[in-house]
Amino acid sequence: MFATALVFPAACHRRSRSRGHGRGSGLAAPIPKPLHPDALTRFVDPLPIPRVLEPDGLRADPDDAGARIPYYRVAMRPVDVRVHRDLPLTRMWGYGGAVPGPTIETRSGRALLVEWVNELPARHIFSIDHTLCGAERDRPDVRAVVHVHGAQVPPESDGFPEDWVPPGRSAVCHYPNRQDAKTLWYHDHAMGIERLNQYAGLFGAFIVRDDVEDALGLPRGPYEVPLMLSDRLFTADAQLRYPTSGNPNSPWVTEFHGDALLVNGKLFPYLEVEPRRYRFRVVNASNSRVYYLSLSGGKTFHQIGSDQGLLSAPVPLQSVSLSPAERADLLVDFTASAGQRLILQSQSFQLLELRVSGRTAEKSGSLPATLRSVPRMPESLAVKTRTLTLNEYEDPKTHGTLMLLNATRWNAPVTEKPLLDSVEIWSFVNLTEDAHPIHLHLVRFQILDRQLFDADEYKMSGTMRPTGDRMLPPANEAGWKDTVRVDPGTVTRIVVRFEGYAGRYLWHCHVLEHAANEMMRPLEVVRL
Ligand code: C2O
Ligand code: CU
Repeated sequence: MFATALVFPAACHRRSRSRGHGRGSGLAAPIPKPLHPDALTRFVDPLPIPRVLEPDGLRADPDDAGARIPYYRVAMRPVDVRVHRDLPLTRMWGYGGAVPGPTIETRSGRALLVEWVNELPARHIFSIDHTLCGAERDRPDVRAVVHVHGAQVPPESDGFPEDWVPPGRSAVCHYPNRQDAKTLWYHDHAMGIERLNQYAGLFGAFIVRDDVEDALGLPRGPYEVPLMLSDRLFTADAQLRYPTSGNPNSPWVTEFHGDALLVNGKLFPYLEVEPRRYRFRVVNASNSRVYYLSLSGGKTFHQIGSDQGLLSAPVPLQSVSLSPAERADLLVDFTASAGQRLILQSQSFQLLELRVSGRTAEKSGSLPATLRSVPRMPESLAVKTRTLTLNEYEDPKTHGTLMLLNATRWNAPVTEKPLLDSVEIWSFVNLTEDAHPIHLHLVRFQILDRQLFDADEYKMSGTMRPTGDRMLPPANEAGWKDTVRVDPGTVTRIVVRFEGYAGRYLWHCHVLEHAANEMMRPLEVVRL
């Protein structure tokens, strides 16, 4: 791996916001003409709903010799997708022949097996940066490994980034699903290229249900709609574009923002709804983009769940922000909007048109006053507090920028080794100028607070000088989480119990470009 001879500056300097563009090289291929999504007619395609995956039989349960559990086989392969009525087909890579992939549905306590089969071609659609850790030239260009984001699974089934398989191979993963009801999602995690694989289309939803949720009588069937958000850039002939730095030896860019915001793989779709209550399970499956979701006219909706399941009570909101990998479970009541058209939007981007019919539907029940008990984890449970910095360095030798967790590269020895069943506080000290959504595999956690501090002073002298009060998370972030937005200039603290399994996992920034270079570290849960 890397002979880490890089000398980090003592304090990171203000980054020149070149965002990796324009570092000249006469070798760069001619840039194809871009597609301008704004020129397309809006709301001419119905919103696709990913199909729910059917099992391919039963197999022995690895946890229970006598039992047989559902077995699914999901192949990753190229797929041609119609993103918009007026565009030609787009070549993507999908799970089960679709983008997003099929939805995997299960119930709490019901284990299942998935055989993930790599049937991708040998050449990648996008330029690989072979200077990134794990993407060196001696590896196959195309590699894949699946992580079910937010699932509590044995380490060998968790999709460790180095557990990839090349085309022609498969991996069987075991998902015990000993978790409450929640919206999970699955995506590629192959070391050094997950940003390219997920961008190519390798993501899908994974839903766990349970009796507590059933008892609430929330909207089901056609009234419960997954919304997977992903932004893309296209060429004029509707092929995916992923930007490069201009340096052919190191095409990595610091982050990605597309101008085409797809919902379930469609650009400007519409959904016909009845004048009643709906449940939308929203997943931010974008590489870097943060969404600020709202409904036209400032219509109020309720958030009932976040990453790791139901909140204690519905939270009325006019807008909700979602960083990469975060989820929001929303209830929207269209009863008073009969005959109207509403737009789901993210700032100036229109995502989805909601066409409310005039027809009076059956009553959709009342909004539950409470949802599920979410006891706050007291800080006093913690046996250890870790202070972990988020860093960004100028790196003139390679990519221009290097991002790290706790100033440590991926391949350095594991430093985060919590004991199985112990509770810890992780205190993320953001020394960069960006927000980073930090995700821990295996666990669910609660946000304790966020506090502004003097980052310059910290970088100069290591002194932590708070410049504001400790802010408690807002109600819609006060439930169980697995990804937390760590704002620039803040210390963000979480409290987490490391339960379920011992073994090798990881934690990382979920801006996929950051994770690739190298804002990602192993995490080892140790059995006493
Ligand atoms: Cu969404 Cu390491 O994962
Ligand atoms: Cu980041």
